[in-house]
Parts: sequence; C-alpha cells; structure tokens
Amino acid sequence: MDRIKIRGGHRLKGQIPISGAKNAVLALMPASLLTSEPLTLINLPRLADVDSCCHLLNELGVSTMVARSKGAHPGREITLTADTIASTIAPYDIVRKMRASILVLGPLLAREGEATVSLPGGCAIGNRPIDLHLRALEALGADIELAAGYVRARAPDGGLRGGIISFPVVSVGATENAVMAAVLAHGETVINNAAREPEIVDLCHCLIAMGAKIDGVGNSRLVIHGCDRLHGATHVVMPDRIEAGSYACAAAITGGDVLLQGARSADMAEVLVELKQSGLNISVEEEGIRVQADGPLKGLTLSTAPFPGFPTDMQAQFMAMLALGQGTSVLTETIFENRYMHVPELVRMGADIQVKGRVAVVKGVSGLVGAEVMATDLRASMSLIIAALAAEGETQVHRVYHLDRGYERLEEKLSAVGADIERIGG
Ligand code: UD1
Repeated sequence: MDRIKIRGGHRLKGQIPISGAKNAVLALMPASLLTSEPLTLINLPRLADVDSCCHLLNELGVSTMVARSKGAHPGREITLTADTIASTIAPYDIVRKMRASILVLGPLLAREGEATVSLPGGCAIGNRPIDLHLRALEALGADIELAAGYVRARAPDGGLRGGIISFPVVSVGATENAVMAAVLAHGETVINNAAREPEIVDLCHCLIAMGAKIDGVGNSRLVIHGCDRLHGATHVVMPDRIEAGSYACAAAITGGDVLLQGARSADMAEVLVELKQSGLNISVEEEGIRVQADGPLKGLTLSTAPFPGFPTDMQAQFMAMLALGQGTSVLTETIFENRYMHVPELVRMGADIQVKGRVAVVKGVSGLVGAEVMATDLRASMSLIIAALAAEGETQVHRVYHLDRGYERLEEKLSAVGADIERIGG
C-alpha cells in the first residue's frame, strides 16, 4: 500500500491550483441519470471517488467519456449519457466503497420509477444513517422497503408527485436526493430546512441548465416545479472549497505565502474569518485567495455547523494547524459523532489535545515531531499531512488511499510550493 513521506520544516510559497469540488461532482454525476441526453461536466477532478462514481453509473447503463477540455477551462471533462437505464440496482460492493453512491437513489427513482440501492452501512466518522433521504422520497409518494441490506424504492403508478419535505436536521445528501427526485416529479415540491452548501447551489445550477425549475437556490426553502423531462447540458464544476481551505492551513502552519488559484471567497467566508482570526493575512485577488502567515498563529474557539457555518470537513485540518498555535483552542464537532480519529495520531507527533465527547481542547505546543502515522478518513489524513509539513524530521503517512479519494495530485501540488514530499509505493 502506498504511503507518503514528508520532511517537515519547509515554508510553502507559490501558487496552488484548486481542483473541481469532490462533493459537487459526486452529486452532479448522478444527475446525468435524469436525462437521456449527454451531460458534460467541465473541471473534473482526478480522484478515486470520481472513478468509483463512474463505475457505479456504468453499472446502471450510463456511458462515461473523459476527455481533455479544449475551452477556457484547462483540465479534464466528462460526458455522461444515460440514453437508456440498464439497471436500477446499486450493488453493495460499489456502495460500500463510497457512501455518496446513495445519491443515485433519487434520480433513478424519478426517471425509472424504481431503485434498489445497498445501504451504505456505518463509516469511519460515525453512524451516518440515511433515514432523511428515505423520508424525503416518501413525501414524494415513494414506497420504501428495507430488505437484506438494500433499500428498495418504488414510485406510485404515474410517477413521483410533488410534496412538502421538512427536514428535522440539515442534511447535504438528503437535500441533494430530494432535489434530484423532485425535478421530475409531477407538480410542486417544497423543501424546508434544505442544506445550503455551495455544492447544492452548484447542483441546482446544473439542473436548471438541464431545464429544471427551482426557486430559492441557496436558501433553506426550495420550491421545485417538476418537469416531464430534462435535457442535456454543459456545466463547470465549482472549485473545491475544502481542498482550498486545507492548503490554506498548510500554508499557515509553515509560515508560508500561498495563492489558492481559482478558490472562491464566497464559498469559504467562515473559514476565511477564522484564518484571519488566527493571525493570517487573507486577500481576495483576481486569480484566487492569497494566504500569508504574519507572525505566530493564535488559538481559536470553533464549532462546526451546516453552511454558512464552519464546515465539519475543515475541523481536522484546523486542529493540526492550531496544534502549533499560541494558547488554547477549543473545537466542538456538532455534525458527526466520531470525527476525532486524527487526534491520537496528532498526539503521537507531539500535539497536546484532550477530547471530551464532542469537544477537543488543543493546547498549542512549540513544535511537532515526525512519526509514522495512520490515515483513518479523508480529512483526518489531510490533518496529518498538514502537521507533517511543520514537524521536525520525517513523517510517513500510511493508508494514503483515503487521501486519493479527495485530493487531486496532492504531492505534486505541495512539492511545487516547496514541500519535501514523496509517495512511496508498495
Ligand atoms: C456531506 C459531505 C461530507 C460532509 C457532510 C456535512 C458529500 C459527498 N459529503 O455528507 O463531506 O462532511 O455533508 O457537511 O457531499 N443524517 C441523518 N440521517 C440522514 C442523513 C444525515 O441523521 O438520512 C445526519 C448525519 O449523520 C450527520 C448530519 O445528518 O450527523 C449531516 O450529514 P449530511 O449533511 O447528510 O452528510 P452527507 O451528505 O453524508
């Protein structure tokens, strides 16, 4: 299994291009199931999760073609064509690798009137149930059965019909499934307490380009007027705000000066506020966001929350950065119940962190030391990379496949700005 070796202590300086957003593309690709015409997604990131999503969509009969983009956007694009749906079953061996596979449920049900999707099961960062996804589809008339580890959903005769969906808890995935089902339902659907993450806004813009009628995009109340059919479209995937935030933390911990090329400040407002609060200079430039360290990092008090709050997907990276901050930081994780798996590994590198329930208290130390550490999930892995960049000596991060799920060309991007980082195979 590959591992990543880092020799810490190099100041990061230069430009890091930000890729297309993983969490956006994992909802946009299933949207191709909603039409028989081609959907082209530009700014496609090169990620293991994108490959898993292609694999799943191919199983369902969607053809996928990846090509170099020729237009204004450098990089890759994918054209997905679901002219006929060959299967409505998302099997366990694909879903278990990638939880976001559940996002085929809404579109398959809306287009074909039925869908059978393996239950994703538990995952490293918590229990992560799908009850909200199922209740939303029931509100559109679906009949749901759970059997042998699968969800079987069936639309009533004549297809899904509009309804009122009121989420008791904000859920990104359930909102995405509900929106994708509602765009092809008969009549009007109202979604209350919808998630407002920028990736949902990106999905809505793509669906609108495909002919969907959605009012309230970016608000917590969405009104969707169902259409009989959607058509093909071309959509540019938004930049990855979590990748950008991760590299901002990497720049900060090394006392660096980095331009996050293509990052959008509106998607990251709360993260930028906290970075400023910790003493960094942040400037929004034409090409992206510049992060410059200016003296020692200050401790922070942070609590994760749905957008526009501080993202849970940035908690681990901030914790690594704050391990070298002055004074005490207090981080509270409110979204997932088991999202502190990076803590024991950071502690092995010399961090002083105590966890009690959902609260982590980080007492800044004067230095970290390299160690052999184990990646446990995607963002936890990135926190170990960030710590390693500032640690004295060598760190080896094992189980790199977690990073490959969500960070495109990580070693290449970091070594281009001065990090001493390499991947070791085997
Ligand atoms: C998405 C993101 C993930 C991010 C998370 C929160 C993708 C592919 N993944 O995950 O990176 O960390 O949003 O911003 O976009 N919940 C239920 N029942 C449900 C669904 C969710 O109780 O049916 C709970 C979850 O356990 C969690 C909370 O709701 O406590 C929020 O989860 P949710 O927003 O659904 O996360 P995902 O969509 O899985």
